[in-house]
Amino acid sequence: MYQALYRKWRPKDFGDVYGQPHVTRTLRSQLENGRISHAYLFTGSRGTGKTTCAKILSKAVNCLNPSDGNPCNECEICKGIENGSILDVIEIDAASNNGVDNIRDLREEANFTPANAKYRVYIIDEVHMLSIGAFNALLKTLEEPPSHVIFILATTEIHKLPSTILSRCQRFDFKRISPEDITARLMYVAEKENVNLTPNAASLIARIADGGMRDALSLLDRCFAMGTDIDENTVSDAAGIAGTVHLFSFSEFVAKSDFTSSLKLVSKLHSESCDIDSLCTELTLHFRNLMVAKTVGDCEGLIVCSKDELEKIKERASQLKLSKILSCIEILEQTTKNIKNAVNKKIQLEAAVIKMCAPPASSGEGISADLEDRISAIEDKLASLSSGAVVSAPTPVAAPKPQPAESPKSEPAPAPEPKEEPKPEPSEAPPLPPAPPEEGEIPDGSFDNWADVLDKLMKYDIPLFGILSNSKASIKNGRVIIHSDNSTLFDFICTDTHSKELARAVYEVMGRRMKIAVSNTEKAKTEKSPLENLKAKINQFNSNQ
Ligand SMILES: Nc1ncnc2c1ncn2[C@@H]1O[C@H](COP(=O)(O)OP(=O)(O)O)[C@@H](O)[C@H]1O
Ligand SMILES: [Mg+2]
Ligand SMILES: [Zn+2]
Repeated sequence: MYQALYRKWRPKDFGDVYGQPHVTRTLRSQLENGRISHAYLFTGSRGTGKTTCAKILSKAVNCLNPSDGNPCNECEICKGIENGSILDVIEIDAASNNGVDNIRDLREEANFTPANAKYRVYIIDEVHMLSIGAFNALLKTLEEPPSHVIFILATTEIHKLPSTILSRCQRFDFKRISPEDITARLMYVAEKENVNLTPNAASLIARIADGGMRDALSLLDRCFAMGTDIDENTVSDAAGIAGTVHLFSFSEFVAKSDFTSSLKLVSKLHSESCDIDSLCTELTLHFRNLMVAKTVGDCEGLIVCSKDELEKIKERASQLKLSKILSCIEILEQTTKNIKNAVNKKIQLEAAVIKMCAPPASSGEGISADLEDRISAIEDKLASLSSGAVVSAPTPVAAPKPQPAESPKSEPAPAPEPKEEPKPEPSEAPPLPPAPPEEGEIPDGSFDNWADVLDKLMKYDIPLFGILSNSKASIKNGRVIIHSDNSTLFDFICTDTHSKELARAVYEVMGRRMKIAVSNTEKAKTEKSPLENLKAKINQFNSNQ
């Protein structure tokens, strides 16, 4: 029968317990000096070695030939405890035996001297699950334990224990096991099992397991099921996460502000049924690593990965500003929270990568450097415009016939030609010239139907909808002015597809074609002169047409 790896490789003595030296050292020295306690409390997150150490301890106190505080694992007692034929070591799962009667039985039984061994050892797992009555019954025994009895209580939730219990036990806090220790253990187990596990794959498992050895070994088990050569891809597949290749692609797209490629990548991973929650977690970790590489010179110890990967991380970090990396981490953190309750997780992630790809908003460090980025991004767009792809119309164009707002869906939406496309404007700063008169002027004021436009965008253009979700709009000089402090918006609707969808949504709601401008008052205040320059460039560009 196949035995799960984590069971098979449960450490048999303290020397095999990884990452808990403060626990194992103290226990061994107690055992060597014969100063054992009658009540221990092991606490810490799951899979860190609590039950394991309880079992080793129960053998060590009873072993016929202990050495250096370790059980020999050879004598009849050690073997008997291991195979369950010696009944003096009793494991109780408090989750299913939590009543006062269970503990009363235990108390009565504890009074008898052990049958084979020196000590009767009670290991009470998940002890926080005991009822109040059961705690009280246990307390009586803990106050005056018979000299041949040892209690080892284990819990992941120490705060649920009454202080009266806490004060009667010697407490050991098990720490999350470091990624290095987990990696080392995995490499050891793989070697013994005759499986090729690459160091990169082991460290990826360690990162995913987040300090728990049981989870790490379970994941390794799943990898074993896929073959005897295990690399990072095997791990990614087994864990249902994106491999690091994809993560590096994402950060590359972020560095290049390449919305399109990152959205495509999300789509691709999603269609390959990659788990969006895990992807989000991995992305957060990836940007965390970039942050560390960016800020700490000697970062080897702080980033768990192979040498090759570390080089890649350093290189990528050098391509990104710290402020950008930090804002990505923030966006991903928020997305991880949002995703938990989201109906459509993919959309949340799409919105996140778009925000991440946005040229950095100006705040904190180096406003002028930020501004340079934004301006050069916009200049690039202008350059591509003047290369003839899309041409803005400086002269009024004939408006199409207005349609009633409730026009049936079957009516084909107008596919506006590039020539007629409304162009967003970077700021309201100088007064806008009046737009070409439509049938009946719309008075200046708030744009009451903006929510309807957003509703349409939710169907036509989800990323744009995401960006506009907190925006407001007003009408001024016959134009729709969008008010948003989302720094991405301007660049976003400069792109062909998005401006087309926006124009279409406005058209369907208003029954007429309208010019659209973006107002970002904050930017206008802080960056007046560079934006003025840009404005001048755009005007000049328009008048050259
Ligand atoms: N510190 C550790 N060193 C080596 N292996 C460990 C360690 N902690 C847990 N393991 C592995 O995980 C499995 C479960 O550990 P266990 O001691 O039951 O964890 P818990 O802390 O939840 O009681 C063990 O069988 C062992 O394979
Ligand atoms: Mg346990
Ligand atoms: Zn022994």
